[in-house]
Amino acid sequence: MNATPANQKTATIIPIAGGKGGVGKSLIAANLAIVLARLGHKTIGIDLDLGAANLHSCLGLSGGTPPGLARFLRSTDQAPLESYLARTPYRNLHLLAGDEGNPFLAQLNVAQQRRLVQQIRALPAEYVILDLGAGSSFSTLDFFRIAHKGLLVTTPEITSLQNLMNFLKNLAFRVIEHALPQDRSIHRKLQTLYTSPLELKSNQPSLPQTLLSSLDPEIAEKVLSSWHQFRPRLVFNRGLGPDDLTIIPELEKHLSHQLDLTVEFIGYIPEDLAVLNSLRQGKSLMSFASTSNAGQDMIRLARRVLRLWDQPIPNSANQLQQYTQRLYLET
Ligand SMILES: Nc1ncnc2c1ncn2[C@@H]1O[C@H](COP(=O)(O)OP(=O)(O)OP(=O)(O)O)[C@@H](O)[C@H]1O
Ligand SMILES: [Mg+2]
Repeated sequence: MNATPANQKTATIIPIAGGKGGVGKSLIAANLAIVLARLGHKTIGIDLDLGAANLHSCLGLSGGTPPGLARFLRSTDQAPLESYLARTPYRNLHLLAGDEGNPFLAQLNVAQQRRLVQQIRALPAEYVILDLGAGSSFSTLDFFRIAHKGLLVTTPEITSLQNLMNFLKNLAFRVIEHALPQDRSIHRKLQTLYTSPLELKSNQPSLPQTLLSSLDPEIAEKVLSSWHQFRPRLVFNRGLGPDDLTIIPELEKHLSHQLDLTVEFIGYIPEDLAVLNSLRQGKSLMSFASTSNAGQDMIRLARRVLRLWDQPIPNSANQLQQYTQRLYLET
């Protein structure tokens, strides 16, 4: 790949996270990347599930993990991240693989992380898809913070939704922590507040407001506005039918009351045996069964990303509910 010309638009970075393990983050990262590339967009997939990388498997790449992230992090020369990208069988799609099971990758130091983020931002592509790990370690939260609009994946199961709330709660804390002035006493106060049990009720201030309540109001407002810039998009995966989406109004209310956060709803992918079968065959869903229900919904998701990513999606909950209902009636 050639270096980014000075006048080229910077890449749209889409971090994919969700809190819970096994909800389909890597499946969606891989297949979203494939569809974007197939539709003619220069795309890079990066496996940032440090220590448990498997994006290459979801892409259907056989023959082990191509060298990538670990080698970049160990390198002492100044070779750019771009030179560690591997080709894939898909035109327009490159991969920066994580190294499978490398425990030394699981914890990046501050300097490594900073270097990596800077280089990710400079990659020559239209779309850069980041497949993040489960949970909400600081490094996962920090990779999700790279962009104000990330993609969240949940299943309709309650445990998955709980982990999602937890992820977003930790994200709010992390964003606030980084937006605060460099003052030890302020940071200490924030840590103490966050680690003491916080009871969030619908008639009480949200978590961000509670955390900022003891600060100078001008600083608090600035910090709050940096949190308000975050507007993640949510995909329901492993759905069993349109009724799954009846949870949305309650979810929206919770997010707004407890976290002062607006999330937009961008996709719905059903539970589909084709996913398991494609993995068994060592192929990506898009190569093995693009006409399956999950494959078709993946294509719909990618088209929505292309159409809507850079702008607000008004009324997204209703749109997704009605759309999913219609699809189910047609099939
Ligand atoms: N829509 C689906 N239909 C059927 N099975 C699915 C679907 N989505 C995911 N799966 C199954 O769930 C498994 C986990 O998916 P995936 O590896 O993408 O999750 P993940 O969120 O990336 O997990 P981790 O947190 O471990 O990285 C897949 O191997 C597949 O078997
Ligand atoms: Mg994964």
